[in-house]
Amino acid sequence: MNHWEQFLAPYKQAVDELKVKLKGMRGEYEKYSIHSPIEFVTGRVKPIASILDKANKKGIKLSAIQQEMQDIAGLRMMCQFVEDIHVVVEKLRARKDFTIIEERDYVTHKKPSGYRSYHIVIDYPVQTIHGEVNILAEIQIRTLSMNFWATIEHSLNYKYSGQIPEEIRHRLQGAAEAAFRLDEEMSLIREEIQEAQVIFTNKTEKDQRGRPSGT
Ligand code: GTP
Ligand code: MG
Repeated sequence: MNHWEQFLAPYKQAVDELKVKLKGMRGEYEKYSIHSPIEFVTGRVKPIASILDKANKKGIKLSAIQQEMQDIAGLRMMCQFVEDIHVVVEKLRARKDFTIIEERDYVTHKKPSGYRSYHIVIDYPVQTIHGEVNILAEIQIRTLSMNFWATIEHSLNYKYSGQIPEEIRHRLQGAAEAAFRLDEEMSLIREEIQEAQVIFTNKTEKDQRGRPSGT
């Protein structure tokens, strides 16, 4: 095992475990047939090239990345409604399997780019054959609409190496406004949508139960 593999192993372990745990929260809501504030969960370990790139840009010494780079392990939790973000944050605060060390609320305070999301940095204990190792992980909680915008902005940033042309940057800010309004509109009819989704889920389950086995 090379140095990087060794260094990243607990991060990989943490992402795998956290994906199971956070997806498990969604599963619990489903079991109780109540609206899940979690739509889907993703996770990734930052690629080595991106770690080096970010360390270089931020002037982080390689010996300090473990303490100073908070998103080597990254999880994302997507929600349907802005209100769900706060429910998810409360649930994460109540958990006993990690410690929250920082919260950044870009939902109420959007970034100049137009970016919105709620960030939670956690200290997560990983059990290894060499004992317990604590790593930092970043959980981003956002609506589907915020995720759509951030994903597109991220690809454009990549394409233009962070120097998005003025005109496109303006368009993106406009798109961020539109994404914000979409979230607001959905919030206004949230109860209506949630009722419909519960009826739909129950109906689908009933239909499936009624089906002959093997189909
Ligand atoms: P980083 O150097 O990116 O870690 O910034 P930071 O230390 O100030 O942390 P912050 O919470 O602002 O951002 C961490 C992560 O949030 C990034 O790695 C991205 O995934 C996401 N993010 C932050 N700002 C933006 C943005 O303007 N656009 C997009 N698409 N993502 C962003
Ligand atoms: Mg950061």
